[in-house]
Amino acid sequence: MKKIGYLLIIISLLIGIANFFFKSETIPAIATNQVMDSANCWTGPGPYQIPTDSLGKQIQYGRNLIANTAYYLGPAGIVAHQTNGMNCQNCHLEAGTKPWGNNYGAVASLYPKYRDRSGKIESIEMRVNDCLQRSLNGQPLDSLSKEMLAIKAYFLWLGKNIPKGTKPKGTGIQDLAFLSRAANPIEGKILYTNACLKCHLANGQGQAAIDGIGYMYPPLWGEHSYNNAAGLFRISRLAGFIKNNMPNPVNYHHPILSNEAAWDIAAYINSQPRPSKNQDADWPNKAKKPIDYPYGPYADSFSEMQHKYGPYDAIVKARKK
Ligand code: HEC
Ligand code: HEC
Repeated sequence: MKKIGYLLIIISLLIGIANFFFKSETIPAIATNQVMDSANCWTGPGPYQIPTDSLGKQIQYGRNLIANTAYYLGPAGIVAHQTNGMNCQNCHLEAGTKPWGNNYGAVASLYPKYRDRSGKIESIEMRVNDCLQRSLNGQPLDSLSKEMLAIKAYFLWLGKNIPKGTKPKGTGIQDLAFLSRAANPIEGKILYTNACLKCHLANGQGQAAIDGIGYMYPPLWGEHSYNNAAGLFRISRLAGFIKNNMPNPVNYHHPILSNEAAWDIAAYINSQPRPSKNQDADWPNKAKKPIDYPYGPYADSFSEMQHKYGPYDAIVKARKK
């Protein structure tokens, strides 16, 4: 019996050492986001909490536009035909209320804010139009349109209890620790086939909704997907989104994929063809380009390829100098 006891101690020590080495291989992207304190993650209010007065009606319309964008603004939209057929909610899950589901918790509290991508102070309206022109590969809304005002009213209502200037935990997309190697699209394709293909299909085109408006499973690449100027075209954004939300309906309490798998799948998806948008005006200060922004020129000497897929350790070190 004693011998088995010793053996168990030795095995657990070995596992501990292995863990230590495995972990020290990766460096955290943003250390504060690594702590998964589930009790403090922000979850947005649901539709039944929307008031029933006239402001409530506007908020409800805003929520509808987020959840069913294609019905209003898609290729056969009843208001206009100005987006690619996806819904905001395909990427901002549960109408932008899900923890680490790319939610809108910090919109009311942080906008207007300065953004390095445009080099400007951006209003909520400008930020919404960014996603319309990039993520939905479409046209902007007029800032005074009924639709824009409703979307804004919804965001202000979602974030009404969040102190100005603060960002609650769990808002947006989680920053995953960087891998010590480049993300690998070939490995990613194998993982995609096992974990994603049954809904998003081998050609990445997803599947239309039964009523033909929007998608049952949205497209991940190709002409109906987000364009190459969209946030998800940076693999850190896509990997963080996938890790905590896919395969649908995974959530951050019970992720299925390892970080490595999420990075590799993101590399595969973002190596596939998609619409392109002129983005020459983006990142006017090239030193502020995110590490995984795939288009030069850069303030450093690393290639577009390394910026797109990693490894990032050397770039991080060079930037610190
Ligand atoms: C293809 C996916 C996708 C779709 C569709 C999409 N977005 Fe986004 N959106 C993103 C990503 C990615 C970000 C940036 C998240 C990050 O960098 O953490 C973002 C950010 C935003 C932000 C800023 C959030 C913040 O806290 O700074 C707003 C506001 C926004 N989107 C509104 C919309 C609206 C409104 C729609 C529909 C008209 C929409 N988005 C559709 C992917 C998408
Ligand atoms: C069981 C079906 C299912 C599986 C499996 C699945 N997804 Fe999804 N995926 C969805 C649905 C549904 C949505 C839209 C969510 C919504 O609108 O609430 C979505 C949305 C997405 C989006 C954001 C919208 C877009 O089209 O760009 C990405 C990215 C994504 N999935 C990637 C993946 C990846 C990667 C995998 C495999 C790891 C995967 N999904 C597995 C059903 C699935």
